[in-house]
Amino acid sequence: MRVTASGKPLGATIEDIDLSQPVPEAQFKGILRALGAFGVLCFPGQRLDAGALARFGALFGELEINVANRFQEPGHPEVMILSNMIREGQPLGLGDAGQGWHTDMSYSKQIALANVLYAVKVPVRDGRPLGDTQFRNMHAAYEGLPAELKRRLAGRTATHDFAKFWDMMRARPGSQRAPLSPAQRAKKPPVSQPVFRIHPITGRTVLYCNPGYAVRIDGMPERESAELLELLFAHQEKPEYFYAHQWAEGQVLMWDNIGTVHNAVPDYHPEESRYMRRVQVMATKDYARLAA
Ligand code: SIN
Repeated sequence: MRVTASGKPLGATIEDIDLSQPVPEAQFKGILRALGAFGVLCFPGQRLDAGALARFGALFGELEINVANRFQEPGHPEVMILSNMIREGQPLGLGDAGQGWHTDMSYSKQIALANVLYAVKVPVRDGRPLGDTQFRNMHAAYEGLPAELKRRLAGRTATHDFAKFWDMMRARPGSQRAPLSPAQRAKKPPVSQPVFRIHPITGRTVLYCNPGYAVRIDGMPERESAELLELLFAHQEKPEYFYAHQWAEGQVLMWDNIGTVHNAVPDYHPEESRYMRRVQVMATKDYARLAA
């Protein structure tokens, strides 16, 4: 297995490994360490059906079954389909997944370690792949915060709400998202998360507060909370934290959901097909021990 860093604020390519085959312990450890160090890992040239993707993802933690998701690979409720494709008048997948800066599962008490996506179909126009996934480095964002802000927010928590991102997407023109049912809402009540947390692989502090789900800083007057959130979100936008991944079919992309925030770019038309399989890996293991 060969790990090549992108030389950018995030990202590495991992080659000479076939993810459809069992992953030996030394390679598992190498991938976990690389995930902590580089945040976004690209494994080009893979061939993974839904079962193989789920098997690879499950090495790292339990796989989430999304409460609002009706687009799953047959026989694999843990493998979600993200796609703009329509067959016989029916959408094949969730067409607008992740189109806004966020961190998956920050709205859940049990947070996620990683997303793992497999690119089945990537839109290309004039030779350029479309539908990039963009990232921001939250280790670096924490380190770059002014000391005064670090002090002010140390030990603080923020409330994260699943409905914030869902309702934002629903409000977009042409959205196919139905309102969340009371049962779906009840399964995902708002939760509090530390604004700064220790990353379980690197042992370093990250800024864990994203514009997709964070709605307020707990225990602060509304106005102060709103101002601070705005400040944190604006800080994350600095170019030195930014990384964009350009897709190719057959790639597996695994990213750290604790040390990054991400955004899916919808720069392709309905007739330009995009089809991704995705699993979400919950942070259910002792990663410090596993990576040691
Ligand atoms: C996501 O937020 O998991 C979707 C990312 C993408 O489809 O590029």
